[in-house]
Amino acid sequence: MAYLNENYLKLQVGYLFPEIARRVREFCEANPEAAKRLIRCGIGDVTEPLPQAAVDAMKKAVEELGHWETFRGYGPEQGYEFLRSTIAQRDYRDRKIDIADDEVFVSDGSKCDCGYILDILGEQNKIAITDPVYPVYVDTNVMAGHTGAVKKDGRYEGIVYLPCTPENNFVPKPPKEHVDLVYLCFPNNPTGAVATRKQLNDWVEYAREHEALLLFDAAYEAYISAPELPRSIFEIDAARECAVELRSFSKTGGFTGVRCGFTVMPKSLLAQTESGKKLPLHPLWHRRWSTKANSVSYPVQRGAAALYSPEGRKQVRALIDHYMGNAKILRDACTKIDMKVFGGVNAPYIWVKTPDGLTSWQMFDRMLRELNVVITPGSGFGAQGEGYFRVSAFNSQENAAEVARRLRTFR
Ligand code: MLT
Repeated sequence: MAYLNENYLKLQVGYLFPEIARRVREFCEANPEAAKRLIRCGIGDVTEPLPQAAVDAMKKAVEELGHWETFRGYGPEQGYEFLRSTIAQRDYRDRKIDIADDEVFVSDGSKCDCGYILDILGEQNKIAITDPVYPVYVDTNVMAGHTGAVKKDGRYEGIVYLPCTPENNFVPKPPKEHVDLVYLCFPNNPTGAVATRKQLNDWVEYAREHEALLLFDAAYEAYISAPELPRSIFEIDAARECAVELRSFSKTGGFTGVRCGFTVMPKSLLAQTESGKKLPLHPLWHRRWSTKANSVSYPVQRGAAALYSPEGRKQVRALIDHYMGNAKILRDACTKIDMKVFGGVNAPYIWVKTPDGLTSWQMFDRMLRELNVVITPGSGFGAQGEGYFRVSAFNSQENAAEVARRLRTFR
């Protein structure tokens, strides 16, 4: 009989969002009337149609594939040149950040990249993650056998947890101890916190000193409106020597279902072999894509490139303004009923302290039963998330306003 990967047996229950979906499904089956007025502010999934510029570009690309003269088969495994160069130019070089076209690798999304990247990293790495945290960072490491067993508090042996609390504004300082790999996500999912330039600078300094690697998830960078806040780790000097950046079109172009994202892997980034030899990671990442994948489909890459056209940019801006309008409505609604609210200003997530000492899942149940609103229990993001819940601003404005109305009746 074949052997299975026992690391999967270390994982706790289901992945958070399918688990929420299961509980909501059960509730809806038992309460069909309430189900009709259910509003989902749980998973951060977009609700608005794709920008027209992307739709037009994808249609045109599909049409091209239907003709002899313009048909294309396999594309370059790391992504088409037209998209890699557009990304490098518009997201980086136009902002005076030195990134070459071939340092951009196009993928089917940054959740996927979080898992893929472990292919090229050794299993000896000491890993640090924030708590609360986007569960994918932890679970992919558990699956890869980079952790020990789960402990009573839900934490895994072998991971260094960096508590994010109101005291540190949900942005942790680098640890005193040595780690090799640090996952950072700003604007943060789930807390909506954003790191300042000084805070990212401290992380880059730590990484340089410890020869550590920062995996910087910038999937929500487009939601930053404060001009002084950094949107890329590469805005920090020397980050090219210690960081990889992950980005996504999911929350900009509404591509959660279309699937497209990218990593930026600087050629100057080194990691070591067991024997202490320092080698660049870029060729390994390139090789990983050549062997295991063919990037994403041509129409999708055309759609992503169209998001950078003048019309595409305006349409993306309108989408972000729409979701951030919801964030304000939801934030204000929670504040009005005296809840303690964080995030939701430069991020599409609002992080809220549960009232009256309720646990996160108790709050989830009450919101579901009494208001018929789905939220995400903070404890699903880690031990430090207990006593909090996350409200996603990804919704129609009508739904956001209705949630605000219903919140007034809470208690
Ligand atoms: C979330 O709700 O945390 C995100 O939508 C999940 C994701 O982007 O994979």
